[in-house]
Amino acid sequence: MGNRDADLRERILDLGRSRGAVILAHNYQLGEVQDIADFVGDSLGLSQRAAKTDAGVIVFCGVHFMAETASILCPDKVVLLPDVNAGCPMANMISAERLREKKKEHPQATVVCYINSSAEVKAESDICCTSANAVAIIESLDAEEILFVPDQYLGHYVSTRTGKKMILWPGFCPTHVRITPERIRELRLEYPQAKLVVHPECRPEVIALADAALSTGGMCRYVQRDDVREMIVGTEIGMIHRLRKENPGKRFIPVSEQAICPNMKLITLEKVLWSLQEMSPEVKVAERIRLGAMTAVDKMLKIGPKP
Ligand code: 13P
Ligand code: SF4
Repeated sequence: MGNRDADLRERILDLGRSRGAVILAHNYQLGEVQDIADFVGDSLGLSQRAAKTDAGVIVFCGVHFMAETASILCPDKVVLLPDVNAGCPMANMISAERLREKKKEHPQATVVCYINSSAEVKAESDICCTSANAVAIIESLDAEEILFVPDQYLGHYVSTRTGKKMILWPGFCPTHVRITPERIRELRLEYPQAKLVVHPECRPEVIALADAALSTGGMCRYVQRDDVREMIVGTEIGMIHRLRKENPGKRFIPVSEQAICPNMKLITLEKVLWSLQEMSPEVKVAERIRLGAMTAVDKMLKIGPKP
């Protein structure tokens, strides 16, 4: 760690303590940001942490829908997102208005929203899911018709695992969609001993070539298996930092150094410090929307498996 990072880290931790703040970070955050967090996890783990924290302030190192979910769960706490421009392009591929229109076409459908969606979209949905619990959530539903929004690829993956027919919103993650089957085949030839895991936001042709499709938290658990010595990692590059840190004896091969989510990378140590100094930018969901969104998130937390 350089002097700059050590100094920033100390100032963040001191100020965080005096503000009574907890720092939550997603697995795709810059390594230096993950290293100052109280908890690093996937979307499900982060929501569960936010729901049970005693801290009055949550510094959310992730993207906007994640901070919003924390605010939905903890309306009395201050939720800070160190860069308010850190959004999720997939979440922006649907709006509450467009979802209301779609619901009119399918009035009988149960609406399942991926957590990568705005609070307004969650409020229009029956239940929420993350990539860690999507299969369990869909299996729990006694529904003839399911409308799944906004990730078509996660939706497709879940429909193949559960055998349920689902209407899929045509959204996608611009980072995961760039992972190609050609690249996966090359890596398979280059590292024949390695296990290959990908995120279920990848395209079906990519998932079909993998040993497993897992949430980022699922990847951290999968690598604990004794038969995994080398792992090709088909997701955002930030994941590699945590995997290497927690498993020094194992080898991790990213599918691509360019598999970067630029929004996740907007959060830096400097911005974390500034957000604690200024207690801003704050993410807060209006109560009218929060109550509807809370129903969908709460139902998910009651059903989903442990992170
Ligand atoms: P996880 O919930 O698996 O961490 O995924 C979040 C995400 O945004 C993936 O792109
Ligand atoms: Fe959204 Fe993709 Fe970034 Fe995840 S990696 S936050 S889905 S843009």
